[in-house]
Amino acid sequence: MSTQARIEDLKKRAAKIIAAGGQKRVDKQHESGKLTARERIDILLDQSSFVELDRFVAHRCTNFGQEKKELPGEGVTTGYGTIDGRLVYVFAQDFTVEGGSLGEMHAAKIVKVLNLALKMGAPVVGLNDSGGARIQEAVDALAGYGKIFFANTIASGVVPQISAIMGPSAGGAVYSPALTDFVYMVKNTSKMFITGPEVVKSVTGEVVTQEALGGAMTHNSTSGVAHFAAENDEDCLKQIRYLLSFLPSNNLEPAPIVETGDDPQRIDPALNTLLPDNSNMAYDMKDVIKSIVDNGEFYESQQYFAQNIITCFARMDGQTVGIIANQPKVMAGCLDFNASDKAARFIRFCDAFNIPLLNLVDVPGFLPGVNQEYGGIIRKGAKMLYAYSEATVAKVTLVTRKAYGGSYLAMCSQDLGADQVIAWPTAEIAVMGPAGAANIIFKNDPDVKAKTDEYVLNFATPYQAAVRGFVDLVIEPKDSRPTIINALHMLESKRETRPAKRHGNIPL
Ligand code: HXC
Repeated sequence: MSTQARIEDLKKRAAKIIAAGGQKRVDKQHESGKLTARERIDILLDQSSFVELDRFVAHRCTNFGQEKKELPGEGVTTGYGTIDGRLVYVFAQDFTVEGGSLGEMHAAKIVKVLNLALKMGAPVVGLNDSGGARIQEAVDALAGYGKIFFANTIASGVVPQISAIMGPSAGGAVYSPALTDFVYMVKNTSKMFITGPEVVKSVTGEVVTQEALGGAMTHNSTSGVAHFAAENDEDCLKQIRYLLSFLPSNNLEPAPIVETGDDPQRIDPALNTLLPDNSNMAYDMKDVIKSIVDNGEFYESQQYFAQNIITCFARMDGQTVGIIANQPKVMAGCLDFNASDKAARFIRFCDAFNIPLLNLVDVPGFLPGVNQEYGGIIRKGAKMLYAYSEATVAKVTLVTRKAYGGSYLAMCSQDLGADQVIAWPTAEIAVMGPAGAANIIFKNDPDVKAKTDEYVLNFATPYQAAVRGFVDLVIEPKDSRPTIINALHMLESKRETRPAKRHGNIPL
């Protein structure tokens, strides 16, 4: 065969694979509101940067007549490219090929990019759209999932791993995303469940739709399995690019610094009047965040789940920070077990990837109740204590108002390693709510009312803590941004080591 003929042959082979499951199935994919694997990769990566690997990989299954089937690309497109000029690995399951189902070689393609990402220290993005294990491949498919889970776990904490659910993700398909750092779901088209409505009905008798069982908003607001919801495929892929702009490529790199143009010395007089005079009245902690971060811009993870705590990425003087903030507008900002789960995981992600932590505190306590105790608020609340204590990145805590008891410790007091604790004059740092405390001390005192008022005046302040050095600075609220940025710069050279161990045992 001449060279020219060989080139033509290569083109023909490639075209066959690029045609994926054929026009009819591609049309069906579009009709159902979804893009194809290749269209998704094109939007995700910088223009023309994608290099496809393993295009010609083929299955070797001979069960149930599979040997007669050609499955272009093995139902998954894999490779690497760039996002904002930085190396990223990607795999995109192709639903038009045997429903994106996962067989032995499909899994091998995914494992290869996971291992390359690990070796090169680059993030990996998985675009999931799959009917789960390819049934015909039986235990080979099962082993494929096992190998992916193993590779996900080894890569955890070394490179950021991001999963987008852009179609079905059923059975074993759910656990690889669950092992990654962030899960996106596309509204209406994505579904995630370990087993679908029919099996649920036969086992438990519950009647439920696919959407209610495992749709995007179910996992964003109820289960907390997903971190982000997208309007459609394009929105999802653009959001992933945005998330990566905040993150380093691996655990050995500092988080990227971006020129944002916002003056680090900018003060905001509006903060001096943000808090209501009555400390039992709510305000929106997002107003504080908007005021202090560069250009008021932040990206919230799990914004629909446990809204009593806010977890978000933002920049301060161009440097990425991870913010954990109580939200007085929701459940008065109390910590419950969902908030603890949400915050602890976010803290550990930031610590793994050198992202400084900024903790904004207005917390009246752990939420009391039978439901909370039965739900494990002790075990789950301990995760926050553990995660903050374990974290060795820069930790700055700003107390705006309430900081009571164990819940204050759980928001990173100085004792849990905050490198700088800043308080507004409105801060109330105390062992418990001052009214409750006074009621205990003065319960038999005929002058209980006056004594309680006096107690509140003296103890619902930042000064009891400041006197002991538990608070480093008491500042006017308007000065928060420059003060925090100053602290973050001071902490740039922070080095903190811990005793060698195999690993800790975080309460899970
Ligand atoms: C083989 C599959 C498949 C699978 C879909 N297909 N899922 N082939 N194995 N798991 C094929 C279909 O036969 C069909 O082939 C094509 O993909 C498109 O599927 P449709 O059913 O036509 O599409 P749709 O109506 O959109 O329904 C999508 C679906 C459904 C909801 C995902 O296909 C489905 O329920 N699939 C099975 C889901 C499942 O039970 N998975 C669990 C597997 S066990 P043709 O040739 O007609 O185009 C598992 C456990 C692993 O995952 C445990 C590891 C820890």
